[in-house]
Amino acid sequence: MPDSLSITDNRTGKTIEVSVDGHGAFPASELKKLGLLSFDQPLLATATARSAITFIDGEAGILRYRGYPIEQLAEKTSFLEVAYLLAYGELPTAAQRSVFEAAVLGAQVDTARIRKHVESFPAGSHPMSVLISGYAALGAAHQEAKAAVHDGEARKAALPTQLAETLQLGAYAIAASIGGTTGATSGATFAEQFLRTSGVGAEQLEVFARALEVLFILHADHELNAGTNAMRAIGSAETDAYHSLAGASAALYGPLHGGANEAVLKMLAKIGDVKNVPDFIEHVKHRDEKLMGFGHRVYKNFDPRATVIKSVVDEVLAVSGPDPLLGVAQELEKIALEDEYFVSRKLYPNVDFYSGIAYKAIGFQPAAFTVLFAVPRTIGWLSHYDEMMAGEFKITRPAQVYIGSDERSVPANRG
Ligand code: ACO
Repeated sequence: MPDSLSITDNRTGKTIEVSVDGHGAFPASELKKLGLLSFDQPLLATATARSAITFIDGEAGILRYRGYPIEQLAEKTSFLEVAYLLAYGELPTAAQRSVFEAAVLGAQVDTARIRKHVESFPAGSHPMSVLISGYAALGAAHQEAKAAVHDGEARKAALPTQLAETLQLGAYAIAASIGGTTGATSGATFAEQFLRTSGVGAEQLEVFARALEVLFILHADHELNAGTNAMRAIGSAETDAYHSLAGASAALYGPLHGGANEAVLKMLAKIGDVKNVPDFIEHVKHRDEKLMGFGHRVYKNFDPRATVIKSVVDEVLAVSGPDPLLGVAQELEKIALEDEYFVSRKLYPNVDFYSGIAYKAIGFQPAAFTVLFAVPRTIGWLSHYDEMMAGEFKITRPAQVYIGSDERSVPANRG
């Protein structure tokens, strides 16, 4: 059987043969030979990258970074080891780990500039607005990032500073959103330094820092989601990494993507009590509401990150005390997993369903949740950006199907 596809245009009888690679992908641009376009707004069957970073099998509920199962990474590694793995392709040796940790946790960052940016926002601003624009502000300060677009060594050398800046930007944005002020602080791990800098979780720092470290590992990359697609698409215009991060984080902010973790907590609070769950489920089935934190474009069985998060929730609630919203979430999950509406559509809890309960137990407000997603995802975005820049690419410029009016003249009298 040849590794090819025969495509016949029944309107003209013309046939083309296109090659199919070992991954089942064919060059869709060959369709132009038939005068055809593939129409795929949500990119359901369109690959836009060959990537060696993250592997997902949505049917089997498998997620691996550089070949390592997410469950093992969550149990046995630190966030900065995972960051190193994503960026460099291998887990660091002990010596490499120390150098990388020191470079990130001790990076010389222009803290005053970041604080000024954060403080320039009016009270009540969403911390994601601060973070998104903060990346552009950092881009203004790092003119050398423009040359790094074409310089792999410079891109890699910038990573520790970019991670340290992201830590401060995210932590200060969160602190400002609750009226807190903190100074730049140290920490033994990335998550511990993040907690200290944001002024959250001090009561049980050790337990909360390890829990947050695991949550950061789970969120570090997820192949070509909407945010990473934005990172690559913007980067394909040879935009520098900081301004590309602004676009990627803006995509993440949406409630169908990373913004779902904040929406889940608001939904649980609105339901308020286990007894109200059946009513809420009926509203979802009548399409008056969406069950936030459920469903995924890729996972059609279970989201392996959600499974790990459940144990993180248990660990943090053991020290922070019980949360009645956990009961509401568990009841929602139980009913939904038995209901034909959700079963037939293969809708399961995703990473955002339980993460908010863990963040809340650590002491974060719902507005902080998407920042807590964006901060660790930054290394994923930067790794994809670097991978793309190191290979061959053209500017991402989709085609459209024009459905507007034909040419017409502006009337002489428009009164
Ligand atoms: N609640 C109720 N119904 C849902 C939900 C949900 N959360 N998700 C999907 N459906 C229904 C859709 O209405 C559709 O039904 P239909 O076929 O009768 O019209 C069917 O399930 C298929 O859904 P699509 O929207 O086609 O699935 P898609 O892959 O495009 O969307 C998405 C995936 C955006 C995650 C969707 O499931 C959703 O909106 N979930 C809630 C938001 C959320 O939790 N987002 C976080 C995702 S994980 C992440 O980004 C980190």
